[in-house]
Amino acid sequence: MNAEKIRGDFPIFKKQIKGKPIIYMDSACVTLKPNQVIEAMNRYYKEFPACAGRSAHTFGRKVTEEVHKARVIVQKFINAKKTNEIIFTKNTTESINLIANSLDLKEGDTVLTSDKEHNSGLIPFQLLKRKSIHHKMFQFGNLEDFRDKLTNDVKLVSTVITSNLDGTSQPVEEMIKLAHQNGSLVLLDGAQAVPHREINVKKLDVDFLAFSGHKMLGPSGIGVLYGKLDLLEKLKPFVIGGDTVKNSTYDNFEIEDIPKRFEAGLQNYAGIIGLGEAVKYLTEIGLKNIAVHEQELNRYISGEFAKLGIEIIGNLDSEKRSGIISFNIKGIHHHEVAGMLNESANIMIRSGMHCVHSWFNAHNLDGSARISLYVYNTKEECEVLVNEIKKTVELVS
Ligand SMILES: Cc1ncc(COP(=O)(O)O)c(C=O)c1O
Repeated sequence: MNAEKIRGDFPIFKKQIKGKPIIYMDSACVTLKPNQVIEAMNRYYKEFPACAGRSAHTFGRKVTEEVHKARVIVQKFINAKKTNEIIFTKNTTESINLIANSLDLKEGDTVLTSDKEHNSGLIPFQLLKRKSIHHKMFQFGNLEDFRDKLTNDVKLVSTVITSNLDGTSQPVEEMIKLAHQNGSLVLLDGAQAVPHREINVKKLDVDFLAFSGHKMLGPSGIGVLYGKLDLLEKLKPFVIGGDTVKNSTYDNFEIEDIPKRFEAGLQNYAGIIGLGEAVKYLTEIGLKNIAVHEQELNRYISGEFAKLGIEIIGNLDSEKRSGIISFNIKGIHHHEVAGMLNESANIMIRSGMHCVHSWFNAHNLDGSARISLYVYNTKEECEVLVNEIKKTVELVS
């Protein structure tokens, strides 16, 4: 994988701030976009800015065709059996909310999540308590605890594949097997996994999978919910209106087929087309190459951080943390670390609780600094980062 060549596709790297290049290491939040994605989106607005699935004119037919193509690209990317198992949503958050609100959960049923979920994978299930649907947790990554918590009342397991807090992944294949033996359905939050390694829904036998376009070189405002078709058939539509019905009278309506019944109102067509282009781009690079590249950079940074005595959150083996390094430096607040890196060398990282407030609160921590790497980061950038961090450590020692 040639990161230097890849960078040539990203117009943002032509930009300098205060005469210095940009070092972007916040890709777990949002990734940068290559020209291919930007141009695909512009093509929609410039050449056929119409509505899919409704108007029979030339523009209408073209958008319908492009949206279908993007759906097929996404289907193949995660190896779904059928094209209509791909539902376009706004993002991972909306995909999880769709399941939380559409699955036929009844009073007394339980949803099991890990103790390290993003707020988007936690709050929708906390809200279900209003309907007397219980929520309980297992310790992230702990199979024994998972097995213990998997009681008969657990109707849904909803959990992250890879944590955005520290980059650590769970043994989801085994977890899915155990959940199915228990008669529980499984929804995986793939926001931090799908962009970084091969996720094969058929092989995993997962029931539902959620992910976001903006974390995988695609546009913001577009996400995906994958679901096995027979399970999607059983969901109650969540948001309903235009395009979700075939016909209506003053008293009733006839619901649309899948996926349309879950894609209410005029859709983010530029986003869908841009996401298709992003998936093509990632596929060309190869997910295996991306995973190796991130691990190499992570190994280097983690090794240097260890020499500096910096505390890393999560699995200490860098191979197990994809492209994420979540850390704290004694004597200096994580917001200050991020601020200093930004000011001194245009190094953009995240600081705070990364929307996993619950975990930080339970561990009496007020957050961390988080580096997150992707296809365009280079060893040279990591060296600049390490040098800046060394200066920060010297400042407080
Ligand atoms: C693991 C995880 N789940 C869910 C989300 C929410 O994603 P979105 O804001 O795209 O809905 C994020 C975003 O950072 C995430 O990292």
